[in-house]
Amino acid sequence: MAILKILQYPDERLHTIAAPVTQVGDKTRALIRDMAETMYAAPGIGLAATQVDVHERIIVIDISETHDQLNVFINPEITEYDGTIDYEEGCLSVPGIFGKIKRAESITVKALDTEGNPFTLEATGLLAVCIQHEMDHLEGKVFVEYWSKFKQSRVLAKLKKNQRSAM
Ligand code: NI
Repeated sequence: MAILKILQYPDERLHTIAAPVTQVGDKTRALIRDMAETMYAAPGIGLAATQVDVHERIIVIDISETHDQLNVFINPEITEYDGTIDYEEGCLSVPGIFGKIKRAESITVKALDTEGNPFTLEATGLLAVCIQHEMDHLEGKVFVEYWSKFKQSRVLAKLKKNQRSAM
């Protein structure tokens, strides 16, 4: 297993649209193990392959406090949306920045598991928000890009300042 490097906003590679996984094999499973390890080490509750510069439709999520309930979604698709929720979101690619985005409160998602078998999951609340956030990464969208240009420019300024003080 390995800890992968997480792309940092505004890295242009975060705007890549991910391609569907055509075959779920050992290579995909090895990537998923590395993604999970990277997410837990960060620590974070979700990670999309896009964020580790692999442009395939794979996301991993674990919202449990015990870090033992890994959800893996390969080629996820949301088939139903219900209600709205605005949750304070953060992102491992945008460290130190948090803010609200309007999302569906409940979703139904279809995906493949690590054996390549299809499954359907109904998710609500934080898990639903997290799935929507990670699926945005697969479309090349980072959560701060829902905000106004003005707010985004303040995010960029803050990230630059944080980088300087970290040196
Ligand atoms: Ni993110």
